[in-house]
Amino acid sequence: MTATATAPADTLATEGATLSSLLREGTRQVHREAETMGFIETLMSGGFGDRGKAAYADLAAQQLAIYGALEAASARIAATPEGAAAEIVFDELERTPQIEQDLEFLFGAEWAEKVTVLPATAQYVARLDAIDTLPQYAAHAYTRYLGDLSGGQVIRTMLQRHYGFGEEGVSFYRFDRIEKPKVFKDLYRERLDALRFDDEGRAAVVAEAQEAFRLNQALFAELGDIHL
Ligand code: HEM
Repeated sequence: MTATATAPADTLATEGATLSSLLREGTRQVHREAETMGFIETLMSGGFGDRGKAAYADLAAQQLAIYGALEAASARIAATPEGAAAEIVFDELERTPQIEQDLEFLFGAEWAEKVTVLPATAQYVARLDAIDTLPQYAAHAYTRYLGDLSGGQVIRTMLQRHYGFGEEGVSFYRFDRIEKPKVFKDLYRERLDALRFDDEGRAAVVAEAQEAFRLNQALFAELGDIHL
């Protein structure tokens, strides 16, 4: 959450640094940009007022498409020997069932006929559908799941505070099977750091994570165009 400038992935001093620290440093700037975008800031500050639930519902609808694709990639990667050995696919992270529950609450029983996928989401999904290597997967899973376990927890609190949510509608942000997010995030980083990528491979993971952040930014920009 600090604002220091971020080096592009190809200029990062990868030698000797852990993958998790490279990811954190390499995405610091894009993270800052993502969390200060109009749609997110307005959502977080309560600025949408009466329109908050609708704006959030639209975000949740996009998340269904995104996590559907990410979790299909989790299954593809876990089915490879390299992916299974890496142990970075965790059942307790799975979000698709929670998003479906949230959508039912937000849109009603006929939610599946009401949700639409935005062009920026379709682009993000296309990138996720193309994942067929562990480095690509690690980048995208890191970006979403560690984010959900970090800033996502703040977002849930803000949604509850400003738009009258209780527990329903925001279960996406609740990880019932993870008792302590900090402990889990540390474990996740350990698993990332144990991956046997060379310097070039690690720089490729950081570059793909930066791309993942940009895809999220493009989505927030589009949601901003619609809801702000
Ligand atoms: C309201 C918006 C956001 C807030 C308030 C926020 C806040 C935070 C905070 C406080 C952390 C540090 C947690 C820690 O040290 O354990 C964090 C980490 C992280 N966030 Fe966000 N975030 C936001 C948006 C996002 C977005 C849009 C993404 C990506 C899609 C994202 C991805 C991440 C990732 C990957 C980390 C882990 C960094 C690391 O330790 O390697 N965040 N966020």
